[in-house]
Amino acid sequence: MATHLEGEVCEWSIGVTPTATTRDLDTSEVIAAAEQIPLERKVELLTGATTWALAAMPELGLRPVVLSDGPIGVRGTGEDGLASAQLPAPSATAATWDEELQRGIARLIAGEAGRKGVDVVLAPVVNLQRSPVGGRHFECLAEDPLLTARLATAYVTGLQEAGVAASVKHFAGNETETERTSYIARIDERTLREVYLAPFEALVAAGAWTVMAAYNGIAIDGVEATATANERLLRGILKDEWGFDGVVVSDWLATRDTDAAASAGLDLVMPGPGGPWGEKLVAAVREGRVPESVIDDKVARILRLAGRVGALAGAEPRDAGPDPDSPEVVAFLREAAARATVVLRNSVRDTAAPRARGILPLDPAEARRIALIGHNAVEPFVQGGGSAFVTPPHVSQPLDALRAAFPDAAVTLHRGGSTTVGAPALAASEVRTPDGDPGILVEQFDDGGACIASTIVPDAAALWLPIHDRATAVRASTHIALDAPGRHTIEIAPVGAHRVRVDGVQIGESTRVVGSEVVLDSSYHNPPAHLVDLDVEEALTVSVEIDAQIVDAEAYGRFVRAHLRHRAPGRSLDEEIADAVVAATAADVAVVVVGTNPETESEGWDRPDLELPGRQNELVRRVAAANPNTIVVVNAGAPVLLPWLDEVAAVLWWWLPGQEAGASLAAVLTGEIEPSGRLPWTLPADMADVPVPHGTPVDGSIRYTEGLDVGHRAWDRRGLTPAREFGYGLGYARWSYDRFAVAAADRGGLLARVDITNRSARDGREVVQVYLSADGSDPDRPVRWLAGFAVADVAAGETATIDILIERRSLQSWSTDASDWITPPGAYRVSVGRSSRDLRLEAVHTVDG
Ligand code: BGC
Repeated sequence: MATHLEGEVCEWSIGVTPTATTRDLDTSEVIAAAEQIPLERKVELLTGATTWALAAMPELGLRPVVLSDGPIGVRGTGEDGLASAQLPAPSATAATWDEELQRGIARLIAGEAGRKGVDVVLAPVVNLQRSPVGGRHFECLAEDPLLTARLATAYVTGLQEAGVAASVKHFAGNETETERTSYIARIDERTLREVYLAPFEALVAAGAWTVMAAYNGIAIDGVEATATANERLLRGILKDEWGFDGVVVSDWLATRDTDAAASAGLDLVMPGPGGPWGEKLVAAVREGRVPESVIDDKVARILRLAGRVGALAGAEPRDAGPDPDSPEVVAFLREAAARATVVLRNSVRDTAAPRARGILPLDPAEARRIALIGHNAVEPFVQGGGSAFVTPPHVSQPLDALRAAFPDAAVTLHRGGSTTVGAPALAASEVRTPDGDPGILVEQFDDGGACIASTIVPDAAALWLPIHDRATAVRASTHIALDAPGRHTIEIAPVGAHRVRVDGVQIGESTRVVGSEVVLDSSYHNPPAHLVDLDVEEALTVSVEIDAQIVDAEAYGRFVRAHLRHRAPGRSLDEEIADAVVAATAADVAVVVVGTNPETESEGWDRPDLELPGRQNELVRRVAAANPNTIVVVNAGAPVLLPWLDEVAAVLWWWLPGQEAGASLAAVLTGEIEPSGRLPWTLPADMADVPVPHGTPVDGSIRYTEGLDVGHRAWDRRGLTPAREFGYGLGYARWSYDRFAVAAADRGGLLARVDITNRSARDGREVVQVYLSADGSDPDRPVRWLAGFAVADVAAGETATIDILIERRSLQSWSTDASDWITPPGAYRVSVGRSSRDLRLEAVHTVDG
């Protein structure tokens, strides 16, 4: 067994510790009572009462069940005003390959749910990273079904043991954001079973309490239907075949049908009020199109969920976890982000020292002057865009953290040019109302043009306020001080129809009235902007007035939104890059943080390519040419091309690290925490090699023609070499694989046993990976697939024996003829190693016919 080192590994036990679960609470009486209540009342429970809560039913002792987004934290319903613990993105935490860490995260999330009065957390996302350009890639765990299933199982069980429901999403075929509410995923049944349904099946077996039906449609055996009205998927596979006894909830505004969705197995339409059920569903029952027993079954499932989360009378209130800025949460999140970091390169320094080792971790004696460079060093991109968004209590900044971690060093910060297309958001300090008070004046008018509400918001980020029922028009007015001489650019980007005036002159308008689609496609985060360039000689003030559309976004509510940005005169991109090169030249070490930004990675759209935005490749190359000790830190959730990867001294993949960003980076650079991450996806070297280069629907369909060859399996099939393969990560220790054996285990599985030795002078963590290949009798089987893994902490110089269970399912295939799983006989090669391409030892296991 793996040796666990005293004091090295966090116990991952903050947040809410498992208590006796309410899981077995007997809800049969309340379910029986519910059958007696009027049909209208039952149906009321089947659509959200609000955007985030179900109706209360005092006659059943039911309080509202509250839902909130995850997986990056628990945002809550938006009413509590509390900051949220902000975790590293799921793709980051998946890079730890650590199920114990996932359980710890789940406990932290459960504690957050307790603090925010939330019963159901809309997480985890177990769609696969089918294409590296996928907009929600950062929110998924991995490109591999087994890794996804195992990590998500730890998360879901950890959460539910603490009495909080998980909502496993998005069921199914939701691997693309382009046209996400309308495309049909066309996946053959074997691929569906073995790849895309596999994590959902594992989570249902582990007891998930809710599953979220996706926006897209899905065609199975040529029969196509939206995921919310897909009888084969919901009633057939999920409920009848897998025995799911929980609630199928629709993705937000995904349900379009009344009878079809109700009959297909959807249980709950979110959000509400309104939508396609309500009175229409009552009528469908009355007119005999939907049996009342179908309604009773949905009510029973919701009441069972209510029992599980403690929403029925008599349940104990759930424990609240510690605050997101408490020392234990801060320490946990710092360690999680540091552990997740992947060492992609760590070259041996140009040194005469006898104990030559990689440049990382940095030796403080040799890093007295550190130049910290990059737009993402100045503004780390800590979380991707979209519904998983949470507001953290703080973000640990790299500069502060490096200064604290290297107290004897001079650490300087240089942006090296902006990487965003848009200007920076206007700061609160830059805006004044027409009366001269700090902020932006927002006035709401009724039909007759009378002002019925007037509010001052601190800045444009807050320009998203509740709208009065009687308001039909809204105007935002502000004065912006332009002090520095030179060219200023103001960007004004309202959502929907609008008119914009600058100093009283109309400079732009749109008559395009928008609705909920701007929320669904995330375009309300980046509406088109009107640009105004102003050449300033002496300080002046400009006035901006926006007549903005009130967006009626159905159950998401009515809101007004506009973005205001300002680019002040400053150094040009060329000058900033040159400044950074000068700083690097004078430093002992240059740490360049490159990455994506909120314009790049988000729900709502896919990326067109894998390029780093702006001139970051040029920045890296010029800094590296100026200083051989250049360490590049990649701050991105999904793959980006790194053409200089093997030309710089070291490269770390730092992910979207969450609120403890800076502190985690410092811990990695000093070596206080080993960056023991392993890539949960393949890093391409060239866009031309990418097996699924985009997910754009063609004529409304996405065909999963690569079949079983998702991610690394496709790279193996084609024999292509990526920049770094699936499972790659150097860590800070060095390992030998000494002995390997495989034996039959219980329930048709295998037990793989391997001895590994930590050949380095420091204690280390290894992620041992086991892959299977079959003889060539089935050409559709992947060349090699992941079958098991384990994380081991081993002291310097020690040997550890690691046992890895390979479940029977890993040997099986889906037979479309038998409509069942089969274990094809023949010889299976079992390989163990450090990554999908660094396989050290192998054994053969034969399955008899
Ligand atoms: C997303 C879901 C999310 C829901 C509620 C949808 O647009 O696809 O993942 O849980 O919104 O915010």
